[in-house]
Amino acid sequence: MKNIVLTGFMASGKTTVGKVVAKKLNMFFYDTDAIIEEQEEKTISEIFAEFGESYFRNLENKLAITLKNVENAVIATGGGFVIEPKNIELMRQNGVIVNLKINPEIIEKRMEFSKSTRPLMQNESIEEVIDRFNKRKIYYNNNDISIKLTEEMSVDECADLVIEAYNKFIGEII
Ligand code: S3P
Repeated sequence: MKNIVLTGFMASGKTTVGKVVAKKLNMFFYDTDAIIEEQEEKTISEIFAEFGESYFRNLENKLAITLKNVENAVIATGGGFVIEPKNIELMRQNGVIVNLKINPEIIEKRMEFSKSTRPLMQNESIEEVIDRFNKRKIYYNNNDISIKLTEEMSVDECADLVIEAYNKFIGEII
């Protein structure tokens, strides 16, 4: 089975939804942030604080090169994974790119409880976070499937929408 590669802004639910999708489809689950934390034996916040963002982006790119070889997996990517187009090119070789499309209202609602583990949210105002989101839209639009999130949507509903769209996409490209 082609991989399902979840992209989206911080707090769009890639990890939470990805785990449910993987379980429902009996696929493997990988999370780029979790793999990097394990490899480095540091949290994402510590990596940013000690080595800076470009070091982290380099780790993401190295990981993309490795992950392009996995099969039958759901891969939840970090929110900035898409800003290096090469990463998406690599993931597309063996996967379908599914964007979880969040909007500014949901970002604002989720920001408070999302801040603690996300260095790029910690010292920014909501306006700055939304500005980053707007600047990145062009990269999130580099997808095969886009799932529009709503405030009411449950994790399970979102996972089902991902699965339905993925099955349709796979059917269409065979
Ligand atoms: C980042 C998003 C984070 C994590 C890092 C940088 C970003 O992942 O990779 O803090 O640049 O948007 P989540 O999208 O899982 O928060």
